[in-house]
Amino acid sequence: MANKLNLAVFVSGRGSNLKAILNRNDLLPLVTVKGVFSDKIDCPAFEIAREFSIPTFHISFSTKTPYDVASVLIAEFKSLDIDLIVLAGFLKLIPGTVIKEYRDKIINIHPALLPSFGGKGMYGMNVHKAVFKSSAKVSGATIHFVNEIYDEGKIINQKAVDISALKSPDEIAHRVLEVEHLLLPDTIKLFANNKIKIINNRVEILN
Ligand code: GRF
Repeated sequence: MANKLNLAVFVSGRGSNLKAILNRNDLLPLVTVKGVFSDKIDCPAFEIAREFSIPTFHISFSTKTPYDVASVLIAEFKSLDIDLIVLAGFLKLIPGTVIKEYRDKIINIHPALLPSFGGKGMYGMNVHKAVFKSSAKVSGATIHFVNEIYDEGKIINQKAVDISALKSPDEIAHRVLEVEHLLLPDTIKLFANNKIKIINNRVEILN
């Protein structure tokens, strides 16, 4: 069997997407979560990492320059032999040096259907409130590559949900989160099985 895919997962809050990855038994033979990284030392997601005996790394994004953050991250990724970096509810910007070094190896989950409802400030409930206010009838989750601009990297995978009968941003958030918990592990599995290819500047999922 091919080597397992080594993952670094970045979190800032609750960590339900991290948990969804760790609870997916079909991923176990394919991937290893080598480390969980956060800018917040006391985030609940770190508790989840510890429950699964995964090393946690607190990176202080506010007291270091982007250059210093980048050096720390790249050094850790190299020592852990990281293949894929997964931003699962991570709120800080990854420094450009890291993005360059790990081009097309960093993915993010966004709780709406990009390219709509993305960009700076569009995170958490802000997204769902904007979707609700727009009167859109579908929302969903998007997995995309991370580039230098918030939420603008190439789209890898998406799943839509019908929100036409939902009555509040909270209801939308709840439904979209259910979809996120499937889409993120499913997409990581596609990476582990080498099914994600960039062809003519588009992301294709092979059969
Ligand atoms: C998710 O909705 C994710 O899409 C967004 O932030 C939320 C994180 O939730 N980027 P959790 O920490 O995984 O529970």
